[in-house]
Amino acid sequence: MNVLIIGVNGMFGEECTRLLSRKHSISGCDLQEKLEYDADVNYCSMDITDQKALLATIANINPEIVINCAAYTDVDGSEINRELARKVNVGGVGNILKALSGSQTKLIHISTDYVFDGSQGPYDEDQPTKAVNYYGRTKLEGEELIRKSEIPWAIVRTNVLFGNTTTQKASFVRWVIDKLQRFETISVVNDQFGNPTWTYGLAEVMERIIDLNATGLFHYAGKDYVSRFEFALKIAGVFGLDPMLIRKTTTRALNQKAPRPYKAGLTCKKAEKQLKVPFYSIIESLNKMKGNA
Ligand SMILES: NC(=O)c1ccc[n+]([C@@H]2O[C@H](COP(=O)([O-])OP(=O)(O)OC[C@H]3O[C@@H](n4cnc5c(N)ncnc54)[C@H](OP(=O)(O)O)[C@@H]3O)[C@@H](O)[C@H]2O)c1
Repeated sequence: MNVLIIGVNGMFGEECTRLLSRKHSISGCDLQEKLEYDADVNYCSMDITDQKALLATIANINPEIVINCAAYTDVDGSEINRELARKVNVGGVGNILKALSGSQTKLIHISTDYVFDGSQGPYDEDQPTKAVNYYGRTKLEGEELIRKSEIPWAIVRTNVLFGNTTTQKASFVRWVIDKLQRFETISVVNDQFGNPTWTYGLAEVMERIIDLNATGLFHYAGKDYVSRFEFALKIAGVFGLDPMLIRKTTTRALNQKAPRPYKAGLTCKKAEKQLKVPFYSIIESLNKMKGNA
């Protein structure tokens, strides 16, 4: 299949490219001038907020599948740069839909558990959404545009992504490893919960959605539901780093710019049943990541 990956230089875009290029022909675009890693990709530089450029790119590539991994992903930054977050996460999605309208090209879009308020997670696909921060609101609006559209689509919500990619723009794991390797103390919250997700597993979901021609909303996440503090301890354990450098804190004490959902995370029964994809534990994923590093 002719697959276009938008946001191909991002953490998940890269993982997706590595897995899907085994079977599919990959075109990719992102903001940067060139592809930032070594792979067989027909690359072009493109900003999804530029409607004209996006229309021309999609007309030129004529993809059968578009996977949208591009987003403004800085959760705290989204509180300050509201206009930009909205322009990318809502306007950009709208532009992709315009470029695909009237075609049978399927759009697979990545979304987040931050569309929920975190009062009673982990969440399944049928639970009501209510974002507590601006990033979550923009991601939810992007989802809503897709759900109203007439083209074939699949939306996959995930959370706390980590992987072994060259680009680690939004990775908690990379941050923990870097700090502990420099023997720096870190403060990590023990009251925000989720199920950290290995990017490789999420890329397998993309492959299954393409193979099965599946549509609709899916949740996909790792097997273990943990606090960020517990996650950091597991990272230290697998990478042989000093756990005593990890201090427990609370969301209130950390005072992040964007409010966070406390009990976030996802339940993934639908993906398990319909897509029959594997799910990975944190330790298993981190060990594989370490082996590949
Ligand atoms: N990381 C997580 O923990 C997590 C959790 C849940 C859901 N998600 C979702 O998963 C998807 C992939 O996330 P990720 O972690 O791979 O993010 P990432 O590493 O930040 O990658 C996103 C990519 O999109 C690019 N981009 C930003 N604005 C763009 C624009 N206007 N036009 C074209 N490209 C643009 C970014 O370029 P720049 O870096 O130059 O801005 C970056 O290369 C996103 O939809 C995100 O919301 C991520």
